This record gives sequence, C-alpha cells and structure tokens, in this order.
Amino acid sequence: MAIFAIVASPRSEEFRLRSFRLRGERMTKAQAGAISEHLSDFEIPIDGPIDLLEIFPKDKYKEIVCEIGSGMGEASSQIAYENPDSAYVAVEVHKPGIGALLIRASSLGIKNLRVINEDIYLVLRDSFADSSFDAFHIFFPDPWPKRRQRKRRLLSPEFIATLAAKLKTGGRVNIATDWQPYAEEIEKNFAESKKFTGGVITRPSWRPLTKFENKGLGKEHLVTDLQYHKN
Ligand SMILES: C[S@@+](CC[C@H](N)C(=O)[O-])C[C@H]1O[C@@H](n2cnc3c(N)ncnc32)[C@H](O)[C@@H]1O
Repeated sequence: MAIFAIVASPRSEEFRLRSFRLRGERMTKAQAGAISEHLSDFEIPIDGPIDLLEIFPKDKYKEIVCEIGSGMGEASSQIAYENPDSAYVAVEVHKPGIGALLIRASSLGIKNLRVINEDIYLVLRDSFADSSFDAFHIFFPDPWPKRRQRKRRLLSPEFIATLAAKLKTGGRVNIATDWQPYAEEIEKNFAESKKFTGGVITRPSWRPLTKFENKGLGKEHLVTDLQYHKN
C-alpha cells in the first residue's frame, strides 16, 4: 500500500489542535449515577442534523442559547433554572462535567436544558444549521497561557466566523475570561470580524459565580466580561 494512503492531510480533522485537554473519564459515584439515571432525559444524541424547534417548540421558548464548555454545569443549571421561558443547550467534552450538570439539573427539576457531550467544533459543523441560536455563552474558555499553546484557544478568527454563521441576526455572544492576554486577543479577533459589534461590558448580574471563576479571583486574576451582537 502506498505510504500516503495512511497519512491524512494536515487540513483534516485529525490534525486540528484541540481546544481542550483530554482529562480522562474518571467520575465520582454521584456523577456516574446521574449519567446512568438522567442522561437519556437530557442528552441530545449526535447522529445527524438536529431540529432544535422539535426539542424546544417556538410557542414555549422565547430564545435558544448554547453554552460552550459548560464545565461542571454551575452556570448552565442556574441560568436555565432562573429563565424557564428560554431554552439552553450545554456542550461539554468532559463527561464527568456532564455528570455534575445532570446532578444539578435533575435536582432543580429543570426542563429547559439539554446536554451534548462532544467537541463543539464538530457539533456546530455537523449538527446545527446556520442561524440556529439566539445566543452563545462562553464562560472561562481554557486560556492556554503558554505561548506555544495559544493556537489551541477556542476563540480564533475561524471559530468566531462559525459563531456568526450559527447565530441569528441580532444574536449575541457573552464571554467571560480571567486571563487578560486572552481577553485582549478576543477583543482583537472580534474587532477584525465584520460580523459583530460589541466589546467589554460590566459583569452581567445574571452570570453566576462558578468555582473556576472563584479560583481565578483567589489568585487576584481580573475577570473581563465581553458581549458582541451579530450585525
Ligand atoms: C476552564 S473550563 C470552564 C468551565 C465553565 N464554563 C466555568 O465557568 O466553570 C473550560 C471548559 O471548556 C471545555 N471545552 C474546551 N474546549 C471544548 C470544546 N471544543 N468542546 C466542548 N467543550 C470544550 C473544557 O472541557 C472545560 O470544561
């Protein structure tokens, strides 16, 4: 067999730098229990295009929000609980985080939230049509602070273009980060995109404080909130 038959093109999915660290799937007993008991009630299976209006009928929900990298689900569950007339899709690649979110969502009796345990790049590329969402929430995306790791940062110009495509006109992106150089890069990348207007905002009162944010504040990190609207 010719050697190039097994060497994938550097442009292919196999060669894309991941925006997440593969941390293994070890879960607490409670997380594993929540996965086996509640995942089927909350999960959107990824096996082709997803019809969001079938899951969240238009007459019941005023908007559909996607949270990218929901972590342990603290913000997702609290925001969904406090806004029962909006619908939420939490996407997280780390399964124990999905388990933690299910513990919260099931104990709060949340009905307006679904989860997807997959890489957001693949989810947006393969499963959602353009103009699917009213908003994206991206709270504390991995900062990748080392110089050689910067290419892993989620909010690249290419990914910002994908967000624009998947948002409805007038839709918004809310971001928070406690890593100042990343905040500056995010501002620069959005400013260069012709698709968005916005910038730094004061902390929205509706954004819950997560353990991750609290840890950053403990290290005296400055937290920056940003909001952009699709033109
Ligand atoms: C630093 S944590 C922040 C978690 C949470 N938003 C918070 O504020 O506590 C970033 C999260 O994004 C997730 N993540 C990173 N890249 C992702 C991707 N491509 N698709 C889905 N989740 C991703 C990571 O697994 C991690 O849980």
